Amino acid sequence: NKGKYEHYMQKEIHEQPESLTTTMRGRLIRGGSCKSKSVLLGGIKDHLKTIRRSRRIVFIGCGTSYNAALAARPILEELSGIPVSVEIASDLLDRQGPIYREDTAIFVSQSGETADTLQALEYALENGALCVGITNTVGSAIARHTHCGVHINAGCEIGVASTKAYTSQIVVMAMLALAIGDDTLSSQARREAIIDGLFDLPSKVKDVLKLDQEMKNLAQLLIAEQSLLVFGRGYNYATALEGALKVKEVALMHSEGILAGEMKHGPLALVDETLPIVVVATRDACFSKQQSVIQQLHARKGRLIVMCTKGDASSVCVGGSCRVIEVPQVEDCLQPVINIVPLQLLAYHLTVLRGYNVDQPRNLAKSVTTQ
Ligand code: UD1
Ligand code: M6R
Repeated sequence: NKGKYEHYMQKEIHEQPESLTTTMRGRLIRGGSCKSKSVLLGGIKDHLKTIRRSRRIVFIGCGTSYNAALAARPILEELSGIPVSVEIASDLLDRQGPIYREDTAIFVSQSGETADTLQALEYALENGALCVGITNTVGSAIARHTHCGVHINAGCEIGVASTKAYTSQIVVMAMLALAIGDDTLSSQARREAIIDGLFDLPSKVKDVLKLDQEMKNLAQLLIAEQSLLVFGRGYNYATALEGALKVKEVALMHSEGILAGEMKHGPLALVDETLPIVVVATRDACFSKQQSVIQQLHARKGRLIVMCTKGDASSVCVGGSCRVIEVPQVEDCLQPVINIVPLQLLAYHLTVLRGYNVDQPRNLAKSVTTQ
């Protein structure tokens, strides 16, 4: 049931304040006796000791689920102190990459039925790793075959383009990082700030959804373009990849997510006064580096659309003119949840304006159960 919406993708984008609330329900604890704030993930609490002892954490997924793991990697590394790698399931299988008994392998999948991810799970089980699932579908193959896991509880997702599952996956992985790091005193203040940030996140997502009309106007402007580049780095490298995936998958427009640190190693050659480029430059430790990227893109007369923190519009766009998307600021590791929303809206409106099928893009299936 689409309710007041025209398409499932639109409904699922706008539903994110609620889906994130359900994802966190009963899992964040504020108040109490000795420890004031903490996280409780019922599905993994008995395995936390084993996870903390593991030599490596390997995330495995496809498409949007892979991007979500990439978004969460920095906070996992920071709070766990364990090396984290992120693998595309098919690539891990193609390489038969090493997986050890001392590894924790985390399988991320909305449907829980993706063939490549499932096969990578069988492979990791054979190799003796602790296998953890992060899935939206209770009773799915991945939920059944993993040793333990967390349901993201985002509610049924019908649009082929994954939207609300992406933001809920990131939130679950941030909670996982908090749970793993829970025994470390030195990061307690940081963890409490993130927990406060999680409590506020649904209302911040509600704020960013108010950009709907602005994104429709931007889509109007980009309707006839051949291509769109999206630059990001740090926590928001994933935002660049995921934003580009949405645009390509539903609006059928070529789009590429680019790690801004790689700009001079090739992509800069594409820049001219015609090609539209989105630069994600919200406030975090990478901000000054992104400012310098913007200046260099301006110097090549790049056609820039800059996503920045509310209030930064005038300071972020030095060295030329650009269109600005202002978003609310949240804790740095949660910022990808906010930043993807305008790009989801942009992809949605571009698709409708270009006259393509929003909920069932050509050639694609919601659940990829064959290889
Ligand atoms: C569980 C209940 C929830 C209830 C809550 C109350 C289910 C599905 N969930 O939620 O209804 O309100 O307790 O305490 O009954 N698992 C995997 N692999 C996966 C995902 C999950 O093995 O990919 C396992 C978990 O280890 C766990 C079980 O499935 O044993 C349920 O996981 P989850 O729903 O995340 O647990 P809770 O949040 O505790
Ligand atoms: O169900 P899964 O999360 O395992 O699906 C993985 C990909 O097939 C999926 O995310 C795909 O990339 C989406 N259509 C992206 O919107």
